[in-house]
Amino acid sequence: MINTANHPLLPINLFEYEQRAKSHLSQMAFDYYSSGAWDEVTLRDNRTAFDRIKLLPRMLVDVSKRDLKVTVLGQTLQLPLIVAPMAFQCLAHESGEVATAKAAAYSGAGMILSTLSTKSIEEVAATNNSTDSLRWFQLYIHKDKGLTRALVERAFAAGYKALCLTVDAPMLGQRERDKRNEFVLPSGLHLANLTNMSGLDIPHYSGESGLFAYFAEQLSPSVTWHDLEWLQSLSPLPLVVKGILRADDAANAAKCGAKAIIVSNHGGRQLDSAIASIEALPDIVAAVDNDAAVLVDGGIRRGVDILKALAYGADCVLIGRPILWGLALNGEAGVVHVIELLRAELDLAMALSGCTCIQDIDSSLVRYNHS
Ligand SMILES: Cc1cc2nc3c(=O)[nH]c(=O)nc-3n(C[C@H](O)[C@H](O)[C@H](O)COP(=O)(O)O)c2cc1C
Repeated sequence: MINTANHPLLPINLFEYEQRAKSHLSQMAFDYYSSGAWDEVTLRDNRTAFDRIKLLPRMLVDVSKRDLKVTVLGQTLQLPLIVAPMAFQCLAHESGEVATAKAAAYSGAGMILSTLSTKSIEEVAATNNSTDSLRWFQLYIHKDKGLTRALVERAFAAGYKALCLTVDAPMLGQRERDKRNEFVLPSGLHLANLTNMSGLDIPHYSGESGLFAYFAEQLSPSVTWHDLEWLQSLSPLPLVVKGILRADDAANAAKCGAKAIIVSNHGGRQLDSAIASIEALPDIVAAVDNDAAVLVDGGIRRGVDILKALAYGADCVLIGRPILWGLALNGEAGVVHVIELLRAELDLAMALSGCTCIQDIDSSLVRYNHS
């Protein structure tokens, strides 16, 4: 049993988690996790956009019982939260993605495993303590199509429930702190899904981030809508498209068979000055018109941010960096605690706005304040 009981020394919110995590990580790891692209305008906007959304809470509703459950692609979650795919989690803790997967399942949240994980598809699948837990595999399409196909087949064989194609990274965004640090994985850490199959790993590059170089050398910048058909022919897994910011792209993704769309700017790590994902959400919800589920990530740090995202029409949210801060501080228990903080905040925000269940959270609760 994981003990996440209130303790005076535990962080009380996700911002405190970030501050505390800093001293548990090398400078290179903290910079890699926290940074955004170029001037980090989008990274900041992802947060400030949430502050501009104002709530119109509903009064005199009996909120003595509240239910946070949602269903996403046919699977029930105990709260509308999925851990975003994030590379290199063993930089935060030796158990890396295995600890994150256990924590997500324990908390009734979902998890998406990155192609660039430091624990393999199979190692993470082996932690499955509940056949119901929502676990998806995130895919980057490599230039080597055979390698890409093998990744999809392994994810399907290992029991992942959906394939999440990231489409906002034909090249890696330029994160200048990683460039300055000449980011590379410390010895002993590898691309667990790829070194065992192809020997591929992050190179050390003078004057450049090794990850930037890896993307340029190995990942395909020529993926188009036509490839979605090929991808869907590789396995029966439902397709999720991650990294959409435009309504026309979202409608196209649904038309091409995507069962869910993740509105995301990659946590401000790809195109700097791209719109804050929460601002892109309403138009996308309207364009998709229930033809696919719509999820959103970027800058969600409070339970009340989750409420705002759901009020704008998202079915569920993804949480990125705060999970890494929890992992860095206290491994699996740290991740459980981060999710617990968000659950408690969302629960309180629902009570204070007159919502007893997720379906009660509707667009009448939000007003966007442009000033
Ligand atoms: C350290 C780090 C690594 C990431 N790696 C991946 C990845 O491998 N694949 C992917 O699709 N997105 C990746 N992302 C983006 C996240 O999935 C997610 O979109 C973003 O972190 C959400 O924003 P937030 O961190 O503000 O919650 C990464 C983000 C971070 C912070």
